[in-house]
Amino acid sequence: ANVTIVDHPLVQVKLTQMRRKETISSDFRRLLKEISLLLAYEVTRDLALTEREIETPIERAMFPVLRDREPCFISILRAGNGILDGMMDLLPSARVGHVGLYRDHETLEAVEYYYKVPSDIADREVIVVDPMLATGHTAVAAIERLKKDGAKNLKFLCLLAAPEGIAEFHKGHPDVPVFTASVDKKLNEHGYIVPGLGDAGDRIYG
Ligand code: PRP
Repeated sequence: ANVTIVDHPLVQVKLTQMRRKETISSDFRRLLKEISLLLAYEVTRDLALTEREIETPIERAMFPVLRDREPCFISILRAGNGILDGMMDLLPSARVGHVGLYRDHETLEAVEYYYKVPSDIADREVIVVDPMLATGHTAVAAIERLKKDGAKNLKFLCLLAAPEGIAEFHKGHPDVPVFTASVDKKLNEHGYIVPGLGDAGDRIYG
C-alpha cells in the first residue's frame, strides 16, 4: 500500500502528548493544529511548481510559483476540522469542502449527513483529512463520494491509522496515497484504534 509515515520528531512527540489520557481538550486542539501544520508540509511536498518572472527590489528574475490551481482540502466532519485548521493556516488560498459522515455504532458503517464541496474538485488536487483511519469505512465512503463528483487526484491525510483501516482503504482506493503520523497496533472490538488516543471528536470538542 502507498503509505507515508511522517516520522518527523516534532510530529512524534506532539502525537505522544495527544495520546496521554490526561491531556485536556484545549491542549489537544492546540497540539492537533501544530501537528497538522507539519503533516500539511509533508502532504504538499510534491505540489508542482513552475517559474514566473517577478521583480525583487534589486532585479527581475524567474522564481517558483504553484503550477496548478491551489489544492482543495476536504474535512471529514467533525474531527477533520481539527486538522483543517492547521492546513488552512499553511495554505490560506486552498479551497475547502466538508463531508459529514458518522459511524453507526452497531454496524460501524459510515452514514452520510452532509456534503458540500467546491464545484471544480475535478481540476484540483484534493487532500482529504480526518484524524482517524480505524475500520476505514468512513474514509472509503468519503473518497467514493468525491470520485463520483469527478475528483481524480486525491490524497488522504490522517493522524493515526490501524493496519485494518489501511488494508480496507487500499482495497477500495489503491490509487490514493495515505499520509499518517502512525500506524498503531490494531483495532479493538468496538472499532477503536489500539493504543490510539480515544475518540478524536470527543477529545477535540470535549
Ligand atoms: C471517527 C473519526 C473518523 C471515523 C474513523 O469519527 O473521526 O471519521 O470515526 O472510523 P472508521 O475508519 O472506522 O470509519 P466519528 O464517526 O466518531 O464521528 P465524529 O468525527 O463526528 O466524532
